[in-house]
Amino acid sequence: MNTPAARRFSGDTLVIASHNTGKVREIAELLRPYAQHFRSAGELGLPEPEETGATFAANAELKARAIALLSGSVALADDSGLTVTALGGQPGIYSARWGGPARDFGLAMTRVNDELGANPDRSAAFICALSLAWPDGHCETVEGRVDGALVWPSRGDHGFGYDPIFVPTGFDQTFGELAPAVKHRLSHRADAFRKLVARCFE
Ligand code: IMP
Repeated sequence: MNTPAARRFSGDTLVIASHNTGKVREIAELLRPYAQHFRSAGELGLPEPEETGATFAANAELKARAIALLSGSVALADDSGLTVTALGGQPGIYSARWGGPARDFGLAMTRVNDELGANPDRSAAFICALSLAWPDGHCETVEGRVDGALVWPSRGDHGFGYDPIFVPTGFDQTFGELAPAVKHRLSHRADAFRKLVARCFE
């Protein structure tokens, strides 16, 4: 069976479905050649939809669809996190929430390590789903990933979140130790953006 052709972005305005100004700036930079105007849900005063989906893709889609409908423009949303094989995929879509209300990732990394205990399977991956939605409800969604292994204790202070305990496959250093430019080339987000650009923007 043939997969239907992807719908391509042909408008001039793209709304980024986020209230995080750092994230909005980074995404606009990556997609700069493909749209004339970038807006964000934050600057348009649009609400942050609740992440009620069961997967990264479902959460990215529900955020992108809601913002496309409310803004009347094509909208892009992401959802990402760490998935640990021996923990049945946890923390997964709850990666941000494992940091508690203070988003304390020292605490979240300790929890991952405690729950792993002596389990010899340290494999894990970062996943990033990106969804582009049109006001008529159509959605194009891609998923990027980077595989690796977890280490303890944490090492390095570059990056954010779970970076200091994640060693990408083929490297000896954690994402917290590697130069940011190296992480940005290898990361789940880079993989997802390459796929989305090829599918909808080029
Ligand atoms: P989101 O902003 O709702 O997608 O939540 C993503 C959460 O997953 C973050 O708060 C981090 O805990 C984790 N996460 C996602 N990407 C990365 C990464 O590149 N490094 C470390 N942690 C990440």
